[in-house]
Amino acid sequence: MIKCTNCDGSGIVIKGNVAYKCSCTKQRVIEMKYKESRLPAKLQQHTFDKFELRYYPEDEYPDKNKAATYREIAINTLEAAKNFAKRNSVKAEGKGLFFCGNVGSGKTFLSSAIANYLLSKGQRVLFLVVPDLLDEIKASYNKEPETSEIELLQHARNIPVLILDDLGAHNYTDWTRNKIYSILNSRLNNELPTVINSNLTLEEIEEQLGERITSRIVELCDIYRLLVPKDIRHLKNLERRV
Ligand SMILES: Nc1ncnc2c1ncn2[C@@H]1O[C@H](COP(=O)(O)OP(=O)(O)OP(=O)(O)O)[C@@H](O)[C@H]1O
Ligand SMILES: [Mg+2]
Ligand SMILES: [Zn+2]
Repeated sequence: MIKCTNCDGSGIVIKGNVAYKCSCTKQRVIEMKYKESRLPAKLQQHTFDKFELRYYPEDEYPDKNKAATYREIAINTLEAAKNFAKRNSVKAEGKGLFFCGNVGSGKTFLSSAIANYLLSKGQRVLFLVVPDLLDEIKASYNKEPETSEIELLQHARNIPVLILDDLGAHNYTDWTRNKIYSILNSRLNNELPTVINSNLTLEEIEEQLGERITSRIVELCDIYRLLVPKDIRHLKNLERRV
Protein backbone atom coordinates (compact mmCIF):
# COMPACT_ATOMS: atom_id res chain seq x y z
CA MET A 1 0.00 0.00 0.00
CA ILE A 2 1.13 3.54 -0.76
CA LYS A 3 1.89 5.67 2.28
CA CYS A 4 -0.70 8.41 2.85
CA THR A 5 0.85 11.84 2.28
CA ASN A 6 -1.77 13.53 4.43
CA CYS A 7 -0.83 11.80 7.69
CA ASP A 8 2.47 10.22 6.67
CA GLY A 9 0.98 6.81 7.40
CA SER A 10 0.23 7.50 11.07
CA GLY A 11 -3.55 7.75 10.55
CA ILE A 12 -3.63 10.99 12.55
CA VAL A 13 -3.57 14.59 11.35
CA ILE A 14 -2.81 17.43 13.74
CA LYS A 15 -4.54 20.75 13.13
CA GLY A 16 -3.67 23.39 15.69
CA ASN A 17 -3.68 21.48 18.95
CA VAL A 18 -6.30 18.96 17.91
CA ALA A 19 -5.67 15.46 16.53
CA TYR A 20 -8.05 14.16 13.88
CA LYS A 21 -8.41 10.73 12.35
CA CYS A 22 -7.11 10.88 8.78
CA SER A 23 -9.59 9.93 6.05
CA CYS A 24 -7.20 7.19 4.92
CA THR A 25 -7.97 5.12 8.05
CA LYS A 26 -11.48 4.39 6.80
CA GLN A 27 -10.03 3.23 3.49
CA ARG A 28 -7.57 1.00 5.34
CA VAL A 29 -10.37 -0.64 7.32
CA ILE A 30 -12.25 -1.36 4.09
CA GLU A 31 -9.10 -2.86 2.58
CA MET A 32 -8.73 -5.14 5.61
CA LYS A 33 -12.33 -6.23 5.27
CA TYR A 34 -11.77 -7.00 1.59
CA LYS A 35 -8.81 -9.15 2.55
CA GLU A 36 -10.85 -10.96 5.17
CA SER A 37 -13.68 -11.55 2.67
CA ARG A 38 -11.52 -13.67 0.33
CA LEU A 39 -13.49 -12.20 -2.57
CA PRO A 40 -11.37 -12.92 -5.67
CA ALA A 41 -9.92 -9.80 -7.35
CA LYS A 42 -11.82 -10.48 -10.56
CA LEU A 43 -15.12 -10.35 -8.71
CA GLN A 44 -14.31 -7.11 -6.91
CA GLN A 45 -15.40 -5.12 -9.97
CA HIS A 46 -18.97 -6.44 -10.02
CA THR A 47 -21.58 -3.92 -8.92
CA PHE A 48 -25.36 -3.82 -9.24
CA ASP A 49 -25.26 -1.08 -11.86
CA LYS A 50 -22.99 -3.19 -14.10
CA PHE A 51 -25.53 -6.02 -14.04
CA GLU A 52 -26.92 -5.88 -17.59
CA LEU A 53 -30.46 -7.03 -18.27
CA ARG A 54 -30.00 -7.49 -22.02
CA TYR A 55 -28.91 -11.12 -21.54
CA TYR A 56 -32.34 -11.98 -20.17
CA PRO A 57 -34.82 -11.88 -23.09
CA GLU A 58 -38.02 -9.95 -22.50
CA ASP A 59 -40.05 -12.01 -24.93
CA GLU A 60 -39.07 -15.55 -23.95
CA TYR A 61 -40.35 -17.74 -21.16
CA PRO A 62 -38.29 -20.41 -19.40
CA ASP A 63 -41.36 -22.34 -18.25
CA LYS A 64 -44.11 -23.98 -20.26
CA ASN A 65 -46.81 -22.20 -18.27
CA LYS A 66 -45.35 -18.81 -19.33
CA ALA A 67 -45.62 -17.41 -15.81
CA ALA A 68 -42.75 -14.93 -16.22
CA THR A 69 -40.20 -13.98 -18.88
CA TYR A 70 -36.45 -14.36 -18.41
CA ARG A 71 -36.28 -10.57 -18.02
CA GLU A 72 -39.00 -10.45 -15.37
CA ILE A 73 -37.29 -13.18 -13.37
CA ALA A 74 -33.93 -11.40 -13.62
CA ILE A 75 -35.44 -8.05 -12.52
CA ASN A 76 -37.08 -9.73 -9.55
CA THR A 77 -33.88 -11.51 -8.53
CA LEU A 78 -31.79 -8.35 -8.93
CA GLU A 79 -34.27 -6.48 -6.68
CA ALA A 80 -34.00 -9.20 -4.05
CA ALA A 81 -30.20 -8.97 -4.14
CA LYS A 82 -30.25 -5.17 -3.76
CA ASN A 83 -32.74 -5.33 -0.90
CA PHE A 84 -30.69 -7.96 0.85
CA ALA A 85 -27.54 -5.84 0.53
CA LYS A 86 -29.25 -2.71 1.88
CA ARG A 87 -30.95 -4.55 4.72
CA ASN A 88 -27.72 -6.15 5.93
CA SER A 89 -25.27 -3.32 5.45
CA VAL A 90 -25.34 -2.21 9.08
CA LYS A 91 -26.71 -5.15 11.02
CA ALA A 92 -26.66 -8.58 9.40
CA GLU A 93 -29.65 -10.54 10.54
CA GLY A 94 -32.40 -12.76 9.25
CA LYS A 95 -33.08 -14.49 5.98
CA GLY A 96 -30.52 -15.09 3.28
CA LEU A 97 -30.85 -15.83 -0.42
CA PHE A 98 -30.56 -18.96 -2.49
CA PHE A 99 -29.88 -18.32 -6.18
CA CYS A 100 -30.38 -21.26 -8.47
CA GLY A 101 -30.15 -21.35 -12.23
CA ASN A 102 -28.29 -22.75 -15.18
CA VAL A 103 -24.60 -22.34 -15.99
CA GLY A 104 -23.51 -18.76 -16.76
CA SER A 105 -26.73 -17.05 -15.66
CA GLY A 106 -25.09 -14.43 -13.43
CA LYS A 107 -25.37 -16.00 -9.97
CA THR A 108 -21.74 -15.41 -9.02
CA PHE A 109 -21.92 -11.91 -10.53
CA LEU A 110 -24.94 -11.01 -8.41
CA SER A 111 -23.53 -12.40 -5.19
CA SER A 112 -20.23 -10.61 -5.70
CA ALA A 113 -22.19 -7.38 -6.26
CA ILE A 114 -23.80 -8.04 -2.87
CA ALA A 115 -20.36 -8.61 -1.34
CA ASN A 116 -18.95 -5.39 -2.84
CA TYR A 117 -21.90 -3.33 -1.67
CA LEU A 118 -21.65 -4.69 1.88
CA LEU A 119 -17.87 -4.30 2.05
CA SER A 120 -18.08 -0.71 0.83
CA LYS A 121 -20.45 -0.02 3.72
CA GLY A 122 -18.03 -1.59 6.17
CA GLN A 123 -19.96 -4.83 6.70
CA ARG A 124 -17.96 -8.04 7.18
CA VAL A 125 -18.38 -10.70 4.51
CA LEU A 126 -16.83 -14.09 3.78
CA PHE A 127 -17.00 -15.39 0.21
CA LEU A 128 -16.30 -19.10 -0.06
CA VAL A 129 -16.30 -21.25 -3.18
CA VAL A 130 -17.68 -24.54 -1.89
CA PRO A 131 -15.38 -26.95 -3.80
CA ASP A 132 -12.32 -24.93 -2.70
CA LEU A 133 -13.58 -24.85 0.87
CA LEU A 134 -13.97 -28.62 0.89
CA ASP A 135 -10.47 -29.08 -0.55
CA GLU A 136 -9.06 -26.72 2.02
CA ILE A 137 -10.63 -28.41 4.99
CA LYS A 138 -9.71 -31.84 3.64
CA ALA A 139 -6.09 -30.77 3.16
CA SER A 140 -5.85 -29.49 6.71
CA TYR A 141 -7.56 -32.56 8.14
CA ASN A 142 -4.50 -34.76 8.36
CA LYS A 143 -2.23 -32.02 9.58
CA GLU A 144 -1.35 -31.38 13.18
CA PRO A 145 -2.59 -29.15 14.66
CA GLU A 146 -5.88 -28.84 12.83
CA THR A 147 -6.15 -25.16 13.62
CA SER A 148 -6.51 -23.82 10.07
CA GLU A 149 -9.54 -25.99 9.39
CA ILE A 150 -11.13 -25.04 12.66
CA GLU A 151 -10.41 -21.36 12.11
CA LEU A 152 -11.95 -21.30 8.65
CA LEU A 153 -15.05 -23.20 9.79
CA GLN A 154 -15.43 -20.97 12.84
CA HIS A 155 -15.10 -17.98 10.58
CA ALA A 156 -17.80 -19.35 8.24
CA ARG A 157 -20.10 -19.95 11.20
CA ASN A 158 -19.66 -16.52 12.76
CA ILE A 159 -19.09 -13.99 9.96
CA PRO A 160 -22.03 -11.54 9.68
CA VAL A 161 -22.63 -12.35 5.99
CA LEU A 162 -21.52 -15.64 4.43
CA ILE A 163 -21.62 -16.26 0.68
CA LEU A 164 -21.32 -19.88 -0.47
CA ASP A 165 -20.64 -19.93 -4.18
CA ASP A 166 -21.19 -23.02 -6.29
CA LEU A 167 -22.88 -25.46 -3.97
CA GLY A 168 -23.09 -27.98 -6.77
CA ALA A 169 -22.64 -31.55 -7.74
CA HIS A 170 -19.35 -32.57 -6.15
CA ASN A 171 -18.26 -35.80 -4.66
CA TYR A 172 -19.67 -35.29 -1.21
CA THR A 173 -18.75 -37.70 1.53
CA ASP A 174 -20.58 -37.98 4.83
CA TRP A 175 -17.71 -36.07 6.33
CA THR A 176 -17.98 -33.08 3.93
CA ARG A 177 -21.78 -33.11 4.23
CA ASN A 178 -21.35 -32.85 7.97
CA LYS A 179 -19.11 -29.81 7.63
CA ILE A 180 -21.64 -28.03 5.42
CA TYR A 181 -24.44 -29.02 7.74
CA SER A 182 -22.66 -27.66 10.78
CA ILE A 183 -22.02 -24.29 9.11
CA LEU A 184 -25.64 -23.90 8.00
CA ASN A 185 -27.09 -25.14 11.26
CA SER A 186 -24.95 -22.79 13.27
CA ARG A 187 -25.93 -19.80 11.11
CA LEU A 188 -29.55 -20.74 11.43
CA ASN A 189 -29.29 -20.82 15.22
CA ASN A 190 -27.50 -17.48 15.29
CA GLU A 191 -29.88 -15.90 12.74
CA LEU A 192 -27.01 -14.90 10.49
CA PRO A 193 -27.76 -14.45 6.78
CA THR A 194 -26.21 -16.67 4.10
CA VAL A 195 -26.23 -16.32 0.33
CA ILE A 196 -25.97 -19.59 -1.59
CA ASN A 197 -25.45 -20.11 -5.33
CA SER A 198 -26.14 -23.35 -7.09
CA ASN A 199 -26.60 -24.90 -10.50
CA LEU A 200 -28.83 -27.44 -8.89
CA THR A 201 -32.49 -27.25 -8.04
CA LEU A 202 -33.52 -27.89 -4.47
CA GLU A 203 -34.64 -31.39 -5.46
CA GLU A 204 -31.18 -32.10 -6.86
CA ILE A 205 -29.54 -30.62 -3.75
CA GLU A 206 -31.61 -32.99 -1.68
CA GLU A 207 -30.32 -35.93 -3.76
CA GLN A 208 -26.71 -34.75 -3.43
CA LEU A 209 -26.65 -33.44 0.10
CA GLY A 210 -29.60 -34.99 1.84
CA GLU A 211 -32.74 -33.85 3.56
CA ARG A 212 -31.16 -32.29 6.65
CA ILE A 213 -29.07 -29.79 4.66
CA THR A 214 -31.88 -29.00 2.20
CA SER A 215 -34.33 -28.34 4.98
CA ARG A 216 -31.87 -25.93 6.61
CA ILE A 217 -31.36 -24.08 3.30
CA VAL A 218 -35.12 -23.63 2.93
CA GLU A 219 -35.34 -22.19 6.42
CA LEU A 220 -32.25 -19.99 6.01
CA CYS A 221 -32.94 -18.55 2.57
CA ASP A 222 -35.54 -17.05 0.29
CA ILE A 223 -35.30 -18.86 -3.02
CA TYR A 224 -34.78 -17.07 -6.33
CA ARG A 225 -34.10 -18.28 -9.82
CA LEU A 226 -31.78 -16.61 -12.31
CA LEU A 227 -32.08 -18.16 -15.75
CA VAL A 228 -30.77 -17.52 -19.23
CA PRO A 229 -31.52 -19.24 -22.54
CA LYS A 230 -27.79 -18.94 -23.40
CA ASP A 231 -24.73 -19.03 -21.11
CA ILE A 232 -23.66 -15.35 -20.65
CA ARG A 233 -20.02 -16.47 -20.48
CA HIS A 234 -20.38 -17.85 -23.99
CA LEU A 235 -22.20 -14.76 -25.29
CA LYS A 236 -19.51 -12.46 -23.89
CA ASN A 237 -16.81 -14.49 -25.61
CA LEU A 238 -18.59 -14.10 -28.93
CA GLU A 239 -18.99 -10.34 -28.35
CA ARG A 240 -15.26 -10.03 -27.69
CA ARG A 241 -14.45 -11.66 -31.03
CA VAL A 242 -16.40 -9.19 -33.17
N1 LIG B 1 -26.17 -9.58 -15.87
C1 LIG B 1 -24.91 -9.58 -16.31
N2 LIG B 1 -24.39 -8.52 -16.93
C2 LIG B 1 -23.14 -8.53 -17.39
N3 LIG B 1 -22.29 -9.59 -17.29
C3 LIG B 1 -22.75 -10.70 -16.68
C4 LIG B 1 -24.08 -10.75 -16.15
N4 LIG B 1 -24.26 -11.96 -15.59
C5 LIG B 1 -23.13 -12.63 -15.75
N5 LIG B 1 -22.21 -11.89 -16.41
C6 LIG B 1 -20.86 -12.34 -16.80
O1 LIG B 1 -21.02 -13.63 -17.40
C7 LIG B 1 -20.08 -14.56 -16.91
C8 LIG B 1 -20.78 -15.70 -16.16
O2 LIG B 1 -21.48 -15.18 -15.02
P1 LIG B 1 -21.44 -15.89 -13.59
O3 LIG B 1 -20.10 -16.40 -13.30
O4 LIG B 1 -22.04 -14.94 -12.63
O5 LIG B 1 -22.45 -17.11 -13.86
P2 LIG B 1 -22.94 -18.23 -12.86
O6 LIG B 1 -24.42 -18.20 -12.90
O7 LIG B 1 -22.28 -18.05 -11.55
O8 LIG B 1 -22.41 -19.56 -13.59
P3 LIG B 1 -22.01 -20.98 -12.95
O9 LIG B 1 -23.30 -21.68 -12.69
O10 LIG B 1 -21.22 -21.64 -14.03
O11 LIG B 1 -21.22 -20.74 -11.72
C9 LIG B 1 -19.13 -13.77 -16.04
O12 LIG B 1 -18.04 -13.36 -16.82
C10 LIG B 1 -19.95 -12.57 -15.60
O13 LIG B 1 -19.15 -11.45 -15.34
MG1 LIG C 1 -20.97 -19.23 -10.47
ZN1 LIG D 1 -3.77 9.36 6.06
